[in-house]
Amino acid sequence: MGKIVIAIDGYSGCGKSSTAKAVAKALGFTYIDSGAMYRAATLHFLNHYLSPSVPHDVEKGLKTLEISFQINPDSQKQETYLNGLNVEDEIRTMRVSEKVSEIATVKEIRKELVSQQQRLGKKKGVVMDGRDIGSVVFPDAELKVFMTADLETRAARRQQELLEKGDMIDMEEIKTNLSERDRIDSSRAESPLTKMPDAVEIDTSNLTFEEQVQQIVDLAKEIIEKE
Ligand code: DC
Repeated sequence: MGKIVIAIDGYSGCGKSSTAKAVAKALGFTYIDSGAMYRAATLHFLNHYLSPSVPHDVEKGLKTLEISFQINPDSQKQETYLNGLNVEDEIRTMRVSEKVSEIATVKEIRKELVSQQQRLGKKKGVVMDGRDIGSVVFPDAELKVFMTADLETRAARRQQELLEKGDMIDMEEIKTNLSERDRIDSSRAESPLTKMPDAVEIDTSNLTFEEQVQQIVDLAKEIIEKE
């Protein structure tokens, strides 16, 4: 099968990551979670008491930041590594979620992560999800998807996800975090979240997981056949 780049952007908690992962599996493509990279950078800054608003700290943080992905041989799931340590669970905690949008506003941090993402996607055959994939990372992506869902649906899904990991978090706290991240992600000066004119919008509020995956797989297959 031909190889294309699929860019999936959208608001926090729309199910972009799980959808992108399933789409990649169905097509035999590689999945890259760009949000995990911003989360790993956030954890790095937190662990080393570095402030994203102090230029010297940003420089120091970027110099010592090494992010990679590895497949867990038991679960076959992709996991995020920060300077050689598995941080897959830690980067999903509220401690990181509360700080990540601030880190993601910093130009120098975005520049570094975008260039790593472009390198990872160079060979095509990738599905990458994030906020600026169709606009900045891969503006020439053959398929761009913009995922949305209403806040209630997103918060309920995120609460379930956290519960499965043993974290009981209040619904209001999750909603506040999601809307605050939406606000910062959409209004920041550097590569704000926007729907590109050539992106296909998919509102997942009333779709099952299988339906949303299938819609994207069908769109991708149509494009691949024409390539
Ligand atoms: O996809 P996520 O919720 O794990 O992303 C975490 C944060 O990282 C999100 O609030 C904004 C930021 N982000 C970004 O600015 N650009 C991306 N391509 C991906 C994520």
